Amino acid sequence: MKIVRSPGAISSLVAAWRRRGETVGFVPTMGALHSAHMSLVRRARASHDRVVVSVFVNPLQFGPKEDLTKYPRPFAKDARLCRLEKVDGLYQPTVGAMYPPGARTFIDVKGLSNRYCGASRPGHFRGVTTVVAKLLGQVRPNTLFLGQKDFQQLVIVERMVRDLDLGVKVVGCPIVREKDGLALSSRNMYLSPAQREAAPLFNASLRKAATEAKRRGATPASVLAFARRELRKIPGSRLDYVALAEVISLEPAQRLKGRLRLLSAVKFGNTRLIDNIPILL
Ligand code: PAJ
Repeated sequence: MKIVRSPGAISSLVAAWRRRGETVGFVPTMGALHSAHMSLVRRARASHDRVVVSVFVNPLQFGPKEDLTKYPRPFAKDARLCRLEKVDGLYQPTVGAMYPPGARTFIDVKGLSNRYCGASRPGHFRGVTTVVAKLLGQVRPNTLFLGQKDFQQLVIVERMVRDLDLGVKVVGCPIVREKDGLALSSRNMYLSPAQREAAPLFNASLRKAATEAKRRGATPASVLAFARRELRKIPGSRLDYVALAEVISLEPAQRLKGRLRLLSAVKFGNTRLIDNIPILL
């Protein structure tokens, strides 16, 4: 496994592989890798000759009061995990290399970026799309692997790739969960024992609401009211938002029809967790 730290080095490494006709799968991350990240890596590994993982805690996607400095950076462990999964290239750029002085171009996916998680975290998705576009320009993979856990992020990046003809295939990978239903996240480690005990109720509430959507006479409003009631019962938590959205436009569902997703964020103290579930009608 090659570890590279500059945009030029990752570009040459991948270009050499692609000149030889090898395909390249890319998994961008902010590090603190856990088994959900590694499930994306395995999917990339299964379908591509070469796999690149990036580890970059992107300052542009953190709000002023968010956990940028506190965000875990266990790089040696991340590298070990990548080696175990036979990653070919581990790309760990510095903040200075990603955002050299003078940089002033940002990507904004209008309409999709300001709602739901974007409403609670202004500027967050602008940071995500800008860094993902830069990483794609540097790595130039055939395929980009993202998790459905960050569903809004996935939809926004898919939109950006289409709108800007970025020429990469985007694959959304299934959510990896603990046995009790809690979606894996590097932020789960911030939960106190009591919060951790209550946290599985988050996914359980969404599952109940998804079942509720199948009841005769259910409407988007009734499903949301049901979900809100369930989510507000979770001890020690505060509901940030819950939404029932169409999967491509992320518009609020008007009817219980078509491909819909129930999206939500809850806060346990300062720890914000997100989850989502398909609505199968
Ligand atoms: P990060 O939070 O490190 O996540 C990296 C990738 O792992 C994302 O595509 C995310 O959706 C996926 N992932 C995390 N937990 C998951 C879970 N429980 N199940 C399935 N997939 C999961 O998302 C980011 O980093 C950043 O915003 C990034 C795209 C790297 C841009 O900075």
